[in-house]
Amino acid sequence: KTEGPLAGRRVLVTSGPTHEPIDPVRVLANRSSGRQGHAIAAAAAKAGAEVVLVSGPVSLPDPASVTVVKVESAREMLAAVEAALPADLAVFAAAVADWRVAEGAEQKIKKGAGGPPSLALVENPDILATVSRGLARPQLVVGFAAETENVVEHARQKLERKGCDLIVANDVSPATGIMGGEANTVHLVSPGGVESWPAMSKEAVAEALVQRFAAALKVSG
Ligand code: C5P
Repeated sequence: KTEGPLAGRRVLVTSGPTHEPIDPVRVLANRSSGRQGHAIAAAAAKAGAEVVLVSGPVSLPDPASVTVVKVESAREMLAAVEAALPADLAVFAAAVADWRVAEGAEQKIKKGAGGPPSLALVENPDILATVSRGLARPQLVVGFAAETENVVEHARQKLERKGCDLIVANDVSPATGIMGGEANTVHLVSPGGVESWPAMSKEAVAEALVQRFAAALKVSG
């Protein structure tokens, strides 16, 4: 597209959970519907950007006018993200599993005399931190923080730790209904301070975020 606040911009979005195989039929996963990430990809495309959406397993339709790359594991997600760079803006909305099973079994693990298996876990790559500190760093790098307590304080720490420009923080305590739900209440945490938005639909949050990202890209050139 040649029109819209993100015309001429390349945007990368991650969305959904990752699935880390335990054996051919079982996975370790995070809870994530992918709704917020997919809504951001859709809103960025509507705003004129060329959008690549790298998505873990979700049960959502592909957003219109977006290139969708489907992955399962964190390591596949990192590879797909690196293949999609360079970009002007990257939004990491995926709920990436922090750990994977050190060695996934090649055959289904059988229930039996040995009792339940114990799973040795190893840490997954941090995709957001890798891209934030990488050579092909997009001009604007945005992370998400799903927390159940001290939402803003944790987001501030995350901004530092991950090296991104902005964290969109939300409280995903079960009582909020945000997880898998229609609406979201977010706090934008940047080095400049915190801005808290009222509860809005995930689509409205996506559109407002995209406006914000477009303005930030304009300021920084
Ligand atoms: O550390 P935490 O998972 O809470 O950080 C959340 C942010 O980091 C999100 O933007 C998420 O997409 C990103 N992330 C990532 N790769 C990981 C873990 C988190 O990109 N392995």
